[in-house]
Amino acid sequence: MPTILITGGSRGIGRALVQDYAAHGWDVIATARSEDDLAELNAMDKVEALELDVGEDESIDRFVEQLGDRPIDLFLNNAGIASIDADDRAGFLKTLEINAVAPTMLARRLKDHVAQSDQKKMAVVTSRMGSIGDNDGGGYIPYRASKAAVNAAWKSLAIDMKPDGIAIAMLHPGHVKTDMGGSGAPVTPADSASGLRKQIDETNLSNSGRFVGYDGAAIEW
Ligand SMILES: NC(=O)c1ccc[n+]([C@@H]2O[C@H](COP(=O)([O-])OP(=O)(O)OC[C@H]3O[C@@H](n4cnc5c(N)ncnc54)[C@H](OP(=O)(O)O)[C@@H]3O)[C@@H](O)[C@H]2O)c1
Repeated sequence: MPTILITGGSRGIGRALVQDYAAHGWDVIATARSEDDLAELNAMDKVEALELDVGEDESIDRFVEQLGDRPIDLFLNNAGIASIDADDRAGFLKTLEINAVAPTMLARRLKDHVAQSDQKKMAVVTSRMGSIGDNDGGGYIPYRASKAAVNAAWKSLAIDMKPDGIAIAMLHPGHVKTDMGGSGAPVTPADSASGLRKQIDETNLSNSGRFVGYDGAAIEW
């Protein structure tokens, strides 16, 4: 069975992705930060939980060591935060760090794990909010900037990793009912997760580097 590594498996879209992939027979490695979340994930069938704070280098080092040299068919970076106050320097920088810097550094650290797998895929849960062309609403400056940054970075990863046979997708999950998306959001985490899985299934070296919604709609940069 293929192996997926999902960051931010504790709640929201990440938790739904863990459930969806496990239900479809994948071996799931899910990351979380708290003891309670790790125990809850470990109790799920087909799921192994590993501790990871994507903002801490030491945590990343420990995590990569625990992974050992096992092949990862799909690295799915889902963990993210959403500071929206552009006057808060620390919050702005933290959002850039967690949403753009960390996924990109992790992808580079995990390149060999993915390159030695059968499916050889990476995907990042970014956001339509990171589209500059689609921004007719303004606001949300740190969050928008972080998602535009991760899109730019992962577009380069798609080009850089093509010779290794790795296909990459940048995915908008919809406006999803989670702590981040709010209770009034129209899309359930389960529907988002199954749409994201379909888009990832359709990702290959010919379309690598695309920015697409969970419903298959192409999104302008
Ligand atoms: N919900 C939406 O409408 C929507 C729309 C577009 C894009 N997105 C994107 O979808 C992804 C998931 O969002 P969500 O709505 O599920 O958010 P959420 O409910 O707030 O969950 C965020 C997840 O990220 C994890 N996380 C945050 N900081 C972390 C860190 N430093 N290290 C490791 N994990 C960390 C959280 O872990 P803890 O539980 O430990 O905090 C949690 O598992 C994010 O990238 C978000 O930007 C969401």
